[in-house]
Amino acid sequence: MAQFIQRSHEDKSGIRDELISGLLATQATTSPKYLYDALGSKLFEAICELPEYYPTRTETAIFDAHADEITASVGSGRTMIDLGAGNCAKAARLFPVIQPAHYVPVDISVDFLRDSVETLQQRFPAMEITALGVDFSRPFALPENVQPQQRLFFYPGSSIGNFTPAEARAFLRGLAASCGADGGLLISVDLVKASDVLDAAYDDALGVTAAFNLNLLNHINRELDADFDIRQWRHVGFFNPALSRVEMHLEARTALTVKWRGGKRDFTAGERIHTESSYKYTQPQFVALLEESGFTGVRVWTDPRGWFMVCHARGQRKGD
Ligand code: AVI
Repeated sequence: MAQFIQRSHEDKSGIRDELISGLLATQATTSPKYLYDALGSKLFEAICELPEYYPTRTETAIFDAHADEITASVGSGRTMIDLGAGNCAKAARLFPVIQPAHYVPVDISVDFLRDSVETLQQRFPAMEITALGVDFSRPFALPENVQPQQRLFFYPGSSIGNFTPAEARAFLRGLAASCGADGGLLISVDLVKASDVLDAAYDDALGVTAAFNLNLLNHINRELDADFDIRQWRHVGFFNPALSRVEMHLEARTALTVKWRGGKRDFTAGERIHTESSYKYTQPQFVALLEESGFTGVRVWTDPRGWFMVCHARGQRKGD
């Protein structure tokens, strides 16, 4: 029987404070985590189907093409800790080859995991499953039944790109220490490529990414009792080569004022709220980042166009 453990609890006043201080900053900004309310998560699933959004299908193709080598590198019978597991589909595709002994899907809310975990437990009755609800972007403890040996952290989807490089280093350091030398990390990362490919991936012809970004304002309206009028804003998404990142912004179409309970902000026409950065790495840059974070023995697999990369690396010896 799968176990379900909820560790972090929604802190409504923390959310309010974070959103308000971001909106009042000189360069208004919001954390990308607010893109994922119920509708935002569905819109992100639709993004993954778009012809312009190559990361999801390229990652799947790399796992399919190199399944044998990846399995040989990772080993079988591990405790697989799936960070941001959602519907657990990416990990489940690997189960027949990697055959984890214990599967630990982690997401902000254990409720997101419940249905998929129950289905998975029926398909793989011998596998121990412990679902964990925690904000894994901050340091967190694993439940006691997750043994310290043979841990395999799994962080697919190039989500590491939504951290700044400094945040990514701190996050990876924590994983390297937690998995130890007999454990490892299987992670994917989106690589630097031609600007027009990146621009299209984050500003698609159908406008699904625009809807994903604009829906953030609906979410803020609910959290803050605010009065953002979505029709007064437009989506902007582009690659910034100087910072090696795609940036998403919401741009005011006209001069306007947004009010919320206890506050307001005036925006001039063309002023933007920075809603997401998605960092793109070169292969050597990302391998160096893994090594600086304490990982060793990095192996990489890419697609024929060199657009995306999957890496496996070993963790840190205790005391290093
Ligand atoms: C979840 N994350 C890796 C996506 C990305 O590509 O940065 C989020 C996304 N934003 C716009 N499109 C997709």
